[in-house]
Amino acid sequence: MKNQRRRRQVLLFPFPLQGHINPMLALASMLHSRGSPITIFHTHYNSGAIDRSSKHPSYRFIEIPNQVSNFRSSSQDNVLSLIRLLNDNCTEPFHRHLAQVLSDTDDDTPCLVLDMHWYKMNPVAKVLGVPTLVLRTGSAASLNGFIALPALYRKGILPSRAQVAEWEMEAAVEELPPLKVKDMIAVGNDREELLSFVALDAENARTSAGIIINTSDALESAELEKLRSDLSLPVFAVGPLHKFATRPEATNSSSLWPVQGRQDEDRMCMEWLDSQDPRSVLYVSFGSLASVDRSDFTEMAWGLANSGRPFLWVIRPGSVKGLLLDSALPDGLFGNGTAIRSGIAKIVEWAPQRDVLKHRAVGGFWTHCGWNSTLEALTEGVPVICTPFFSDQMGNTRYMADVWKVGVELRVPLERGRVEGAIRRMLTTGDGEAMRARAQELQRVLANANEEGGSSCQAADDLLSFLSSL
Ligand code: UDX
Repeated sequence: MKNQRRRRQVLLFPFPLQGHINPMLALASMLHSRGSPITIFHTHYNSGAIDRSSKHPSYRFIEIPNQVSNFRSSSQDNVLSLIRLLNDNCTEPFHRHLAQVLSDTDDDTPCLVLDMHWYKMNPVAKVLGVPTLVLRTGSAASLNGFIALPALYRKGILPSRAQVAEWEMEAAVEELPPLKVKDMIAVGNDREELLSFVALDAENARTSAGIIINTSDALESAELEKLRSDLSLPVFAVGPLHKFATRPEATNSSSLWPVQGRQDEDRMCMEWLDSQDPRSVLYVSFGSLASVDRSDFTEMAWGLANSGRPFLWVIRPGSVKGLLLDSALPDGLFGNGTAIRSGIAKIVEWAPQRDVLKHRAVGGFWTHCGWNSTLEALTEGVPVICTPFFSDQMGNTRYMADVWKVGVELRVPLERGRVEGAIRRMLTTGDGEAMRARAQELQRVLANANEEGGSSCQAADDLLSFLSSL
């Protein structure tokens, strides 16, 4: 640990979605280990995940009350409304609590780090004179995509599947290489709502004192260069943040999904992994928001079983559209427990993902390519099968499959033969071995970036100096 001298207090306000809480808490851990006192604002909505103060005894937590209660039903279909609702509901209480923090503080004015989705909080902080940076939890490429989207729409480049012919979806987006039209950011079906959301998020970034981004110059140097030149703001590429964090953020995520009657993460699956051969298991998880159609789910299940390879599958409540877990499992395959009893499959509602990806038994990861999962796969050198659903996941897939060449692209609609083929390719062929070798090379590159003298470590030092200078 370095730079232990007492530094300026940093206030952090994570957005209450799983893929946003984890990197913000990892950032808090990194800043704290370098001497910054930490205060976390959190919504009631995610208090279970964050305010386990025993995990973070030296942080101060401040709850921002709001009226949003049904967060576990949040999904890819309603996430934009949720973001709008939370911004609307939290503005006034955030103003009140931030003013209170300022009046309680004798030292220098603290700095604030906001998740990019908290676009209504930045003007509040400005009114109160609090210097504010924005944390972008996704990649630099995806932030470039946010910024470019309104102009691309005006040019008629639209990612909506309903309105674009197949050949147009395959066309390159010249402004955002290597993306194709089908890789552009897409959330829900309401184009105006998406445009308004990306404009507010991009404005939040533009009007901040600087951007902290969970990526590395070692991974996205051209994309970061573009961002820096387009925004003319300090951009601190301090990722992968989870590798900077000290325990508990380094291994466990702060789960929003308490599993009934068990620990919040199913640690039993680690014992099951212990009993499997090295690199034999496929780990399957589509993050915290994606939900699959019933037919895709059935094809996944049969493809997994027919591949004959062991697999650990996270089936989260809500991850199959409109179905409860028990009724979702295909009869005769999992419904009577055959695959599970024979030891070939382990199904959990939530897994300790970072530990799973580190395990010697894991040979591949079938992922939705959320940015955290993408970074977690790369930092453990695990090759991937990519099935993106929405938002930045299609763009992340393009990088994994075509730029870093560590993944197989497998888009919905799924079909059991293609699923089986992708799994066999990943786990049993020389092609899969080559992807693993490239993933391991990136693992080394990213580890070096976080070491003393590496670009992300330097960016973290620069960030600390910048925060002191504000
Ligand atoms: C969302 C969007 O889907 C994604 O596109 C965007 O990049 C970030 O916000 P999410 O779906 O939650 O993210 O996926 P991801 O970014 O991969 O984050 C999921 C986190 O939950 C990861 O840190 C992963 O380790 C953790 N996780 C997931 C678990 O710990 N256990 C699980 O069983 C599943």
